[in-house]
Amino acid sequence: MRKVAIVTGGVSGIGRAICKELVGRNVFVIIADINEHDGRLLEADLNKEASNAQFIELNVTDYKSVEHVITNVYEEFQRLDYLFNNAGIAMYGEIYDMSMDEWKNIVDLNLWGVIYGTQVGYQIMKEQGFGHIINTSSAAGLGPSPISTAY
Ligand SMILES: NC(=O)c1ccc[n+]([C@@H]2O[C@H](COP(=O)([O-])OP(=O)(O)OC[C@H]3O[C@@H](n4cnc5c(N)ncnc54)[C@H](O)[C@@H]3O)[C@@H](O)[C@H]2O)c1
Repeated sequence: MRKVAIVTGGVSGIGRAICKELVGRNVFVIIADINEHDGRLLEADLNKEASNAQFIELNVTDYKSVEHVITNVYEEFQRLDYLFNNAGIAMYGEIYDMSMDEWKNIVDLNLWGVIYGTQVGYQIMKEQGFGHIINTSSAAGLGPSPISTAY
């Protein structure tokens, strides 16, 4: 049976490359991203030769939406092989210039977005008895660098 993956932030950059790699390995990909316009274009591109992908609009900072999307995918496909918690942003600047909204934005997305996905995805994978969760991280998490405190 064909494997199924969800890739958050799958429209651009690393997530886009993951989506393409997975399709190349015959995995059906759910592109879960906030950017609907480019998401639909990527979906069309990946489906040019066969049905390989589906775009679903998702804001990973909203727990209810994350729960809804992951649960629906599982119900529709009856399996979830891979969950890539990849959506994230970089933010650079002096810490004294940052607003609380900017702090909230990056923590909601880079931290809580990953927690939400893991919380929902892990339960499903435990129930079905298999699956992998992959969180995109950064070397910046291991070593400090100037003007990237929040990141
Ligand atoms: N680019 C790098 O050099 C680098 C290095 C190490 C780690 N990372 C990490 O890799 C991940 C992807 O980075 P990238 O460089 O490919 O970024 P990118 O900006 O190219 O892609 C991020 C994607 O996430 C989506 N997104 C943004 N907010 C979202 C939200 N609230 N809900 C759902 N999707 C949302 C965007 O629409 C975009 O498609 C991030 O977590 C980043 O921190 C990047």
